[in-house]
Amino acid sequence: MKILVIHGPNLQLLGQREPQVYGKVTIKEINTSLKKEAKKRCVKLDIIQSNHEGEIVDLIGKASANKYKAILINPAAYTHTSVAIRDAIAGCGVPTIEVHLSNIFSREEFRRTSLIAPVAVGIISGFSKLSYLMGLEFAIEMIIAEHKKHAKRG
Ligand code: DQA
Repeated sequence: MKILVIHGPNLQLLGQREPQVYGKVTIKEINTSLKKEAKKRCVKLDIIQSNHEGEIVDLIGKASANKYKAILINPAAYTHTSVAIRDAIAGCGVPTIEVHLSNIFSREEFRRTSLIAPVAVGIISGFSKLSYLMGLEFAIEMIIAEHKKHAKRG
């Protein structure tokens, strides 16, 4: 069982970037926690951080061919601007969960709209590192439920 985790632009700077908003947690700490949890659940995680919209679109476009069963994405600033990432998610056939460290709905007006949310399975926003961990937990449960459904059908 493989899940793709995508961190969008500027998230490589977590820990030093606007700590009053994003806290002190680093991307390394988030990734370590995700990998630990994934290992416990016998899931393989591939984790990528990219500052480039096209690269993120490419990864999502190849997700099904690369056998990912779910995508966990923090699209960061692209959440509010990227029709290209939204279209990639809508068309890729791999269920996608959107996560944010901060509560985007309690911040500046321009952050309150997510172009991604309508094509995501769901969105978890405002729980810092736990947003990612809850997103992973949900992704795993969703994949297990899907497997069971198929097994029943034979
Ligand atoms: C973010 C929220 C976005 O508005 C912002 O551009 C980010 C991080 C979050 O995780 O809270 O870069 O996605």
